[in-house]
Amino acid sequence: MASTNTQSNSSGYSAELDQAERASRDEITALQTGRMAWTLAHAYDNVPHYKKAFDEAGVKPADFRQLSDLKNFPFTVKTDLRDNYPFNMFAVPREKLVRIHASSGTTGKPIVVGYTQADIDMWADVMARSIRAAGGRSGMIIHNAYGYGLFTGGLGVHYGAEKLGCTVVPVSGGMTERQVQLINDFRPDIITVTPSYMLAILDEFKRQGLDPRKSSLKIGIFGAEPWTNAMRAEIEQSFDMDATDIYGLSEVIGPGVAQECIETKDGLHIWEDHFYPEVIDPETGTVLPDGEKGELVFTSLTKQAFPIIRYRTRDLTRLLPGTARPGMRRMEKVTGRSDDMIILRGVNVFPTQIEEVLLGTDWCGGHFIIELTREGRMDEMTVVAEARPEHWDESGLVEHTERVTAYIKNTIGITARIRAVPPETLERSLGKAKRVFDKRPKD
Ligand code: DLL
Repeated sequence: MASTNTQSNSSGYSAELDQAERASRDEITALQTGRMAWTLAHAYDNVPHYKKAFDEAGVKPADFRQLSDLKNFPFTVKTDLRDNYPFNMFAVPREKLVRIHASSGTTGKPIVVGYTQADIDMWADVMARSIRAAGGRSGMIIHNAYGYGLFTGGLGVHYGAEKLGCTVVPVSGGMTERQVQLINDFRPDIITVTPSYMLAILDEFKRQGLDPRKSSLKIGIFGAEPWTNAMRAEIEQSFDMDATDIYGLSEVIGPGVAQECIETKDGLHIWEDHFYPEVIDPETGTVLPDGEKGELVFTSLTKQAFPIIRYRTRDLTRLLPGTARPGMRRMEKVTGRSDDMIILRGVNVFPTQIEEVLLGTDWCGGHFIIELTREGRMDEMTVVAEARPEHWDESGLVEHTERVTAYIKNTIGITARIRAVPPETLERSLGKAKRVFDKRPKD
């Protein structure tokens, strides 16, 4: 279908699928093998950290002959990047960089990443591809509410949207009232924003007495944080739109590493011509076969300024065969980061599991936080969940919250307290939501 649907725009990008999106699995594997060999040599020859790490592991770039050899090369972890702050991971002279981004992280120094012009062009290509996979086309208006600045979300989406030939509204995050006004006035087709901030925009529509289903928005491209299919259903029904998932991280490029296709909505196709994924057992580091769940690891295949070898993302997912793009594998929606996993009396819980349960009720619209406290020797988990305005009635909610407690006990196997609070109680995130507040004493 797509090959006949050629609409070139002034930027030269067309509605036709890229060659890599039409490639067979064998063609992708051959492409990856050549590009991987280049990347390993490029990193080894130009980044002292990689030379040292490869030497210590007793491997040389020439030891790589096929993709299965990658397992012999060392992982890269966040602290490696922090230790080389700010500019020591770059593989090209600083003067060749046209842009720098940084991810804040919760503690310590940020992680700094850099791009040559060719890197920026590649990023714009994979982002344009992602927006198109989500249903975006040349000529559409895109309301980009990802933050602009050192965060990769705003500018990453921006360049891809321009390349696809869209009209970008670079609104960034925040000033929710104005977001709604601009959506009403400019009538965008697409919105790009974190799913948690989309809920804040939804509330603002209602507060202004506007019907979100009558808005112009038809496509949402949501990511930068974990979210569930229950949240997808909530957003799709509230806005009468198609909601797809976009994944990425600064260390690998930014948004546009993987994107869900609108026609299947069955997990995210990884743009494997540029990013090579592995899933490993987080305890042992062993590479797991496709289909098994573990920690996602990425190696860049074409990046010049900041090649990244076997980067441990801490994101948990599994790899699945391609569907809408048969040559490229999918990753299942990320359940969470290993950092966000709560271990409560021996049971592992992710905030996404709580989100799913809460959105399965009719009284909670998805605004919630999780508080962890210690009483005596016992860890306690309290889910503070905001009621929908039409359901805020304290007496009735007691029964509802008890039902949620019982449901969590039966499905996840933990005892959690649920505290329903009135609408508009919890602070809204402007970007990534902070879900877990750990108030336990540090031992
Ligand atoms: O969040 C890049 C991005 C911007 C992706 C806009 C999508 C949209 P970082 O700030 O470096 O980069 O954070 C990367 O965010 O390792 C995941 O833990 C999480 N993350 C990103 N996308 C998703 C997603 C951007 N679709 C970290 N689902 C990653 C779940 C996601 N988690």
